[in-house]
Amino acid sequence: ITNISEFTSSDGIQYVYLDDREIKTWFRSPFPPHLNRNKLLFVCQHCLRYTGSRYAHTRHRVKCPVTFPPGNEVYRDGILSIWEVDGREQVRYCRALCLLARLFLHSKTLYYDVEPFIFYVLTERAADGKCRLVGYFSQEKLSAADYNLSCILVLPTYQRRGYGHFLIDFSYLLSRRSFKWGTPEKPLSDLGLLSYRSFWTLKVCQTLQMLKPLAERADDGDDFNITLELLANLTGMLPVDIVFGLEQLQLLYHKPTSHKYSIRINDWQIIDSIVDRWNAKGYATLDPTKLLWKPMI
Ligand code: ACO
Ligand code: ZN
Repeated sequence: ITNISEFTSSDGIQYVYLDDREIKTWFRSPFPPHLNRNKLLFVCQHCLRYTGSRYAHTRHRVKCPVTFPPGNEVYRDGILSIWEVDGREQVRYCRALCLLARLFLHSKTLYYDVEPFIFYVLTERAADGKCRLVGYFSQEKLSAADYNLSCILVLPTYQRRGYGHFLIDFSYLLSRRSFKWGTPEKPLSDLGLLSYRSFWTLKVCQTLQMLKPLAERADDGDDFNITLELLANLTGMLPVDIVFGLEQLQLLYHKPTSHKYSIRINDWQIIDSIVDRWNAKGYATLDPTKLLWKPMI
């Protein structure tokens, strides 16, 4: 994937200085005009204050008292934590998150109206005890559709290490705890689509694997059907996204005499090998028992 940059050579912020690294930006973001004149933007990774001046940034870092995002820690496992930040209470922080995301996301339109959203911020705790920003996703507090995730970002320095999956998994965990089925807001970016497709397929495999003992017993005469509804309840995924996963795995069987489809698994090894291949990557996995959270409504 190459990102089509909107930049001309002299246009907008081209690098963001975060976590002692200069990260090349992908798109233009509506930071205040006086900052957009700079090529390099300095961001405090703890409180997300931004400035165009290296001097001001260095001074800020010495005195910044913030060590974690301004919300409730709703998940902790080892050095990873997820923080629930209310857009209504932490307007400045959440706007800064959105502006940061826009530097890596073409279609993002939300920057200022953050109040209707909750932000789930993933951090890694460093040796000094301070929490480093890894990524986040936002969620509409009252979604008329079935959206459980509005916008997701993993900072480029942390990408392709499974954190996108981790955050997506977390968004579905929240759906399950609210007894809902969820799906991400559309349209998805190219990278969003790649990550979700990979996630949906893997999640269907993991869930089928879990059901395997029951399905095998059913082969011996018990009555047990793997239905879309069962998979949706177990994953929190909208049936249409489960169908995507099943199609990828070629597990949907069209009954010739009717317009109906059924789920048919002839070769469990394919499912096992997809899960094994993912597990072998050694990415962090979400442990649902570590969630400290109750639905707001
Ligand atoms: N190229 C090819 N495959 C990819 C890519 C990529 N750049 N990124 C993810 N995938 C697929 C791969 O199969 C990957 O597994 P692998 O790396 O082991 O091969 C799998 O998805 C999981 O990737 P993760 O490491 O979990 O994803 P990551 O942490 O990189 O985060 C994200 C993905 C959040 C989309 C990140 O790329 C990002 O922040 N992009 C910029 C912002 C954006 O586009 N957000 C989505 C907008 S859509 C929405 O918000 C509803
Ligand atoms: Zn700060």
